[in-house]
Amino acid sequence: MSHAIADFRSDTVTRPTPAMRQAMFDAELDDDVLGHDPTTHALEIEGARLLGKEAAIFTPSGVMANLVAVMTHCRPADEVILEEWAHTSRFESGGAASVAHVQLRTMRSKRGLMDADEIAGWISPGNHHTPRTGLVIVEQTHNFHGGAVLSLDGLRRIHETAKSRGVPVHMDGARFWNAVAAGGVAATDYAACAETVSFCLSKGLCAPVGSLLCGPTKFIEEAKFNRKRVGGGMRQSGVLAAAGLVALREMRGRLVEDHARARRIAETLASLPGFVVDLAAVQTNIVFVRLEKLDPARVVEEAAKERIRLYATGPKQIRFVTHHDVDDDDVTRLLDFLEIQAKD
Ligand SMILES: Cc1ncc(COP(=O)(O)O)c(C=O)c1O
Repeated sequence: MSHAIADFRSDTVTRPTPAMRQAMFDAELDDDVLGHDPTTHALEIEGARLLGKEAAIFTPSGVMANLVAVMTHCRPADEVILEEWAHTSRFESGGAASVAHVQLRTMRSKRGLMDADEIAGWISPGNHHTPRTGLVIVEQTHNFHGGAVLSLDGLRRIHETAKSRGVPVHMDGARFWNAVAAGGVAATDYAACAETVSFCLSKGLCAPVGSLLCGPTKFIEEAKFNRKRVGGGMRQSGVLAAAGLVALREMRGRLVEDHARARRIAETLASLPGFVVDLAAVQTNIVFVRLEKLDPARVVEEAAKERIRLYATGPKQIRFVTHHDVDDDDVTRLLDFLEIQAKD
């Protein structure tokens, strides 16, 4: 029997659900660059409300939401403090430097959480030698630290440190709702640790396209100008926002299923010879595994023959991501395949 493809490369591969496709079909539309698309407005209002922020804007991607946040918070030549593996530093094509004209100053961390005292020592008001610190960015959950959830205490310390020195905090919450689903902290409490928060409606929430950047009304008005400058003004964007509304209303609750499957993958692989997993870091839907003997590129190749898609994130590393479009049988198939690889 030939199986459907089981894709563990990323939660970005999720496809819109039937309810989303129907909502897209039915969406009430107008021109959002002229400020009139009712479905986009509804999404922005709902997203902002869920985070306890005043306002939001819809962007075509998480990358653009972060870029617009940097452009709006900072002046050219400002310094932005962020974690060394932060998405904005490593995976956004240098946009912060080349478009927003800021400098990135990256800091080591413990599983994605930077030390507030170290940040205090790095923040500078600027003088004729040193650039001004314009922004601190935190990433929740932290992708390249295995989907780790940054603690509320740690985030509060960073926010208080930055705020007391007049520096705003932006939260790259591409997987913000995974952090909330991991339990124990309200969305509004996490969001209160930053002046602005971006989150993706795609990825685990399954919308085909789109992110929201949330913050104070005045900031969002300026952000609209910057979004237009980088080509992110969209006309009948309600056709996408309609899927985003379904994502927000129907898909947040099920993220715990993805977390349970990631945990199963992590625990099984940790018990196999040659597979090293930091189990404490596996708190949501991402599992980073170090391969001591096997060549990740070869494992990816062999997996493809079994209709399993994997992503090698380094010469010794594979990242597994669980999401709506992989189920328990797919996980069983993955683990059976890897057990055979481990024995070979
Ligand atoms: C932490 C983080 N921030 C931002 C993004 C950007 O999202 P997109 O590539 O959908 O624009 C990603 C994408 O994987 C991410 O993992």
